[in-house]
Amino acid sequence: MIDIIFNLNSIADAAKQIAFKLTPGLPFLLYGEMGAGKTTLTKHIVSALGCVEQVTSPTFTIMQSYLTNTDTVWHVDLYRLDDVYHIDELGLDELNRHDMMIIEWPERLGYKIFSQYLKGTLSIQSDSSRKLILETII
Ligand SMILES: Nc1ncnc2c1ncn2[C@@H]1O[C@H](COP(=O)(O)OP(=O)(O)OP(=O)(O)O)[C@@H](O)[C@H]1O
Ligand SMILES: [Mg+2]
Repeated sequence: MIDIIFNLNSIADAAKQIAFKLTPGLPFLLYGEMGAGKTTLTKHIVSALGCVEQVTSPTFTIMQSYLTNTDTVWHVDLYRLDDVYHIDELGLDELNRHDMMIIEWPERLGYKIFSQYLKGTLSIQSDSSRKLILETII
């Protein structure tokens, strides 16, 4: 388990550390209260992975994909998951076999669909400072 403390000046370095750990088959489940900075951190991880596109918070879509030179990266925000969408229909398990995934509000999954994952718990330390606890769950 490691702790990473960062602010908006050091977030790119923090994102790089996390990006190194991402790999298909090991989804990054990013926990943290509303406004903790999950989407902001995700944007930086996606850039650290070499995606040229800017990630925008998926306001109307639950899932967005980005391309690196070699991989597809999915940003999944389950906050807006409602009755219309069912977890099974998102096909996360299948995508996870081939693609990298960063999942906000993973508690909405409701049940365990990933047997192993990288768990991130983001918390607010002060106005600009955040702490991420990172652990690999197998
Ligand atoms: N060190 C930091 N890391 C990330 N965000 C920060 C940091 N310091 C300040 N912020 C600010 O905190 C806010 C976090 O918003 P963001 O949308 O990323 O949070 P979120 O966890 O995705 O929220 P939600 O639960 O609504 O999805 C942004 O306005 C961002 O600029
Ligand atoms: Mg968000």
